[in-house]
Amino acid sequence: MSLTEEIKKRRTFAIIAHPDAGKTTLTEKLLLFGGAIQTAGAVKSNKIDTATKSDWMEIEKQRGISVATSVMGFEYKDVKINLLDTPGHQDFAEDTYRTLTAVDSVIMVIDCVKGVEIQTEKLMEVCRMRNTPVICFINKLDREGRDPYDLLDEVEEKLNIKVRPLSWPIGMGKGFKGVYNLYEKKLNLFTPSQRKLSDDRQVFENLDDPQLDTLIGPGNASQLREDVDLIEGVYPDFDVKDYLEGKIAPVFFGSAVNNFGVNEMLDTFIKIAPTPKSRDTDVREVNPEESKFSGFVFKIHANMDPNHRNRIAFLRICSGTFERNKPYNHVRGPKPLRFSNVTQFMAQDKEIIDEAFPGDIVGLYDTGNLKIGDTLTEGENMVFTGIPSFSPEIFREVVNKDAMKTKQLEKGLKQLMEEGVAQLFTFEMGQRKVVGTVGQLQFEVIQFRLKNEYNATVEFHPMNLYKACWISCKDKKQLDEFVRSKNRYIARDKDDKLVFMAESKSWLQMVQDNYPEIEFHFTSEF
Ligand code: G4P
Repeated sequence: MSLTEEIKKRRTFAIIAHPDAGKTTLTEKLLLFGGAIQTAGAVKSNKIDTATKSDWMEIEKQRGISVATSVMGFEYKDVKINLLDTPGHQDFAEDTYRTLTAVDSVIMVIDCVKGVEIQTEKLMEVCRMRNTPVICFINKLDREGRDPYDLLDEVEEKLNIKVRPLSWPIGMGKGFKGVYNLYEKKLNLFTPSQRKLSDDRQVFENLDDPQLDTLIGPGNASQLREDVDLIEGVYPDFDVKDYLEGKIAPVFFGSAVNNFGVNEMLDTFIKIAPTPKSRDTDVREVNPEESKFSGFVFKIHANMDPNHRNRIAFLRICSGTFERNKPYNHVRGPKPLRFSNVTQFMAQDKEIIDEAFPGDIVGLYDTGNLKIGDTLTEGENMVFTGIPSFSPEIFREVVNKDAMKTKQLEKGLKQLMEEGVAQLFTFEMGQRKVVGTVGQLQFEVIQFRLKNEYNATVEFHPMNLYKACWISCKDKKQLDEFVRSKNRYIARDKDDKLVFMAESKSWLQMVQDNYPEIEFHFTSEF
């Protein structure tokens, strides 16, 4: 198959959701449709039991530190689907943000009872930064949820994106009968089944068919006809281009657990979802069809066993053909790298592969050469952009409790930060080290791993900080002057970039007002 054909065949995406909306259930149903698994219940949820929410060791166990479920590849109707898993726990949100840099589109699951929740809003902001095309799946229609029209309004309002329903529910709760496919203008009536796919379906191409009244009841049938007329009248025709540009989100309704509406979405997804897209580097845009390979690392999985300190780096292939054992330019590093152990993930298995194509995600065994954001190429010196760090929300000062192990501590911190566990900021004054995270759990993770893997003992002391803002200014003199006068609050991030550590929202606002020429950024890429 030619490179162009390989690219056309691929769809790389992630499912995102507020915890409990049904991400795991939907993933499982997609794998069932793809024939990658035979019965439901096979995919392990990476959702964390409430009882163990604060015990990260338990959480890691539950997640199985499971490399296999990080990427699930499967084929459906001749399309190679790469589904990237995102952590269910909010404290690992940074991980999710980075995963979103490696996909071409997103399916967002929303619970029809709860509507748009906080985590969904945050994730949508990240999608918007890159104009990632989003499909919404409104789930759990077998429960008495909110009115579908209200839900659509809420998605538009809270997620700040135009919507276009492409399927429509018939009834809700106990009276939920299925969904009408507005995109293909047909109705598949299934028997609900939680464990397997039902072949027992009845297809209606014409809504005026009187048999419909018999099957779903005259009330439901006339309501459906009315709804479809209304939707087609109110919403403009669906334009794939708008979806691909991230301007409109097609919406599907269904019940993942009962297999309702999933097929409608998947069939439409493979038709409209983007194939691997061009990506920006600091030098130029890279087209997937370029014959020379390029890709970037967006995630690193550490081996928790201190005797085997190898890790798996997840590489997204952006152009050309990636080949095993071929030396590639590690743009940030001192020497070329070659990889003999390259894995790809098919459903829940992983297999060693010889080559991979744009859109694919491969796992590279790494002994400490790679870090998140690294670019590999077939020679060219360029770096993929769009993999920013976000300002953390919780800050703690690192206090070394064993001066004899300072070197180990430095090494451990450096490596953990390279894996993206948290962010490290070093104050210019006094070289105090501050770790910033999005959740409490990471501090436990870091403390445990520093002790276990590097034999370093640390404590974390609370710090009164609100945000880390990356700063820039067109006039270098003015920036120097700002840095001098605010010396106590200036730190450097892992890449030595200047960061202003703001103590409170109001104070940050004041400083921004007093220094209008200084730009304050909440992500490391601007
Ligand atoms: P998550 O990965 O987004 O966190 O959600 P997950 O799929 O684990 O689903 C959360 C809960 O919602 C599960 O129930 C799941 O069975 C249920 N669920 C998913 N889809 C539907 C649906 O279409 N309708 C209804 N009524 N429920 C749905 P649980 O009680 O937490 O777990 P389980 O014991 O049922 O597996």
